[in-house]
Amino acid sequence: MTFELATPHPLAPRLSPAPPTRAFEIVDETPADVPAREALLDAAFGPARFLKTCERLRDGRKPAPGLALVAKDDEGDMLATIRLWPIHAGGRRPALLLGPLAVADHARSLGLGGEMMRASLARARALGHRAVLLVGDEPYYRRFGFERRFTEKLVMPGPVERARFLGLELVAGALDGAKGRVTAGGLGDALHMPRAA
Ligand SMILES: CC(C)(COP(=O)(O)OP(=O)(O)OC[C@H]1O[C@@H](n2cnc3c(N)ncnc32)[C@H](O)[C@@H]1OP(=O)(O)O)[C@@H](O)C(=O)NCCC(=O)NCCS
Repeated sequence: MTFELATPHPLAPRLSPAPPTRAFEIVDETPADVPAREALLDAAFGPARFLKTCERLRDGRKPAPGLALVAKDDEGDMLATIRLWPIHAGGRRPALLLGPLAVADHARSLGLGGEMMRASLARARALGHRAVLLVGDEPYYRRFGFERRFTEKLVMPGPVERARFLGLELVAGALDGAKGRVTAGGLGDALHMPRAA
């Protein structure tokens, strides 16, 4: 997916020619992207990111297949990262946990975060996923359809601000009656390691 970010100068006259654009591409993350992704996340969240309750659902696990995306500019520099993780939203109800989403400081407020959200949610829907949970700022995420009402009876595996615990149905009714503990899904890394003799 290739996009163009319009970056009009704030003082540009209204009848000026079309604004300059910077191309970026949203692609699947590869192992070679990991150092740049981690640097981007460190810059966005700092070391406290590893203490978040969501990390308990991610630690030692892999993102859902096809749902680790990065945005790169036309020189290959990473501008944004987003990943979604397999979880169960109470009982055996499969769902995804979205996050972290981060956009490089110099590329914010140009629409890139929104493009990452829309691209990853479209991919999740196309892959047959039914629902997505996240912990984040409701004023930002509500524009993508995330709502508090879907998580009211769900419990995360640690402290979260309830007002920031949000859900989205990719399939109508997917979170109907969702209640109980949110648990990690998929396979942990440990399960991929060779067994000790
Ligand atoms: C949040 C973030 C991903 C948004 O990326 P972005 O590329 O700047 O987003 P977009 O360009 O699509 O949208 C920008 C709009 O969202 C708003 N916005 C950004 N963060 C917001 C927040 N936390 N709450 C409410 N609105 C927010 C901006 O004010 C801007 O509004 P405007 O269009 O009216 O000017 C980016 O700011 C970021 O990486 N922040 C640090 C990490 C982070 O907080 N990640 C989210 C975890 S909750």
